[in-house]
Amino acid sequence: MFSSLNEQPADKILQLMQLFKEDPRDTKIDLGVGVYKNAEGVTPVMRAVKAAEKQVWEEQTTKSYVGLPGDPAFGDAMVNLVLGDSVARDKVAAAATPGGTGAVRQAFELVRMATPDARVFVSNPTWPNHVSILKYLGIPMVEYRYFDSETGGIDFDGMMADLEGVKPGDVVLLHGCCHNPTGANLNMTEWQAVVDLLNRTGAVPMIDIAYQGFGDGLEEDAAATRLVAASCPETLIAASCSKNFGVYRERTGILMAVAQDAGLKTLTQGSLNYLNRQNFSFPPDHGARVVTTILNSPELRADWAAELEDVRLSMLGLREQLAGELQRLSGSDRFAFLAQHRGMFSRLGTSPEMVERLRAEHAIYMVGDSRMNIAGLNKTTVPILAKAIIDVGI
Ligand code: LMR
Repeated sequence: MFSSLNEQPADKILQLMQLFKEDPRDTKIDLGVGVYKNAEGVTPVMRAVKAAEKQVWEEQTTKSYVGLPGDPAFGDAMVNLVLGDSVARDKVAAAATPGGTGAVRQAFELVRMATPDARVFVSNPTWPNHVSILKYLGIPMVEYRYFDSETGGIDFDGMMADLEGVKPGDVVLLHGCCHNPTGANLNMTEWQAVVDLLNRTGAVPMIDIAYQGFGDGLEEDAAATRLVAASCPETLIAASCSKNFGVYRERTGILMAVAQDAGLKTLTQGSLNYLNRQNFSFPPDHGARVVTTILNSPELRADWAAELEDVRLSMLGLREQLAGELQRLSGSDRFAFLAQHRGMFSRLGTSPEMVERLRAEHAIYMVGDSRMNIAGLNKTTVPILAKAIIDVGI
């Protein structure tokens, strides 16, 4: 049996992680996988997470199963964090999932179950695993224009023109904030135009929000998701706690489905529970419990928000330093977009050959499409990266 298996394509991001590990050069810089690192290159356990884990350890009396959608308190806390009071709680079905990726996968499965002929529109580019999962599930995918490599901004006219091609029931996948891999984001006027298009065409929005708090702030980063959820009849939202709570390996995420009314919410909740049961039964609980403990404790929540804000501001500082350094070395403003981008990533907008030269000649690792993890930098490595970018002739 096993001999009839085919070789599977390697995931570009994970492959790069391995290459970096194997590189013996001690000057190497990892701007690959989207993991936050502090100035010492460490991915710390957040203070509030440590405190909440201690509390859970002390207070937890059983590890028996929770329900198929996970602990309802986690659902409530996450709906509140992501959606605020933008929609009535009794319209939102929610199920915990193994990480944000699990939520994305369950959302696509729900789409296929509800509307077998739906196509999913994805930005060009999008997180490569979106594309990979859609292909794996056999769901037809259509790309819409998004990033303008010339300006480092968004090709909004191109995006809207391509989205005119949606049919009722098609799904449009949008990044709630901190677009991965480009770092370029819609402004609220543009979001409103997208909402109008969705409502005019009858397409269903699906929002992937994996970096809330990494862009302009916790509330600001949720604004677009809240606008969409409040304005469209139905919305799917895949949210991750991996980055903003730093609980990557705990696999903590949630799929929310905003329905038109409480009756449809109940029907949808049943389908989310069913999909969990078919794919993994009960979702992981530890990370979700830690997140719930933090969000429901005013002290822990305040400490978590403060630490997250420090993380956000440090990334913003690195962006500004890098844009400034490149401005000085190139004598031009052509890299100014790096300071405009938000979140963990920026797409430099250069060729795979240049990316390979940065790796081979300067031991700088970024994804082949020139996505850089800004959090992989520190004040010392920013000038090294800037010099390397200019040296290879980008
Ligand atoms: C990334 O884009 O680097 C992260 O979301 C990690 C992953 O799973 O790819």
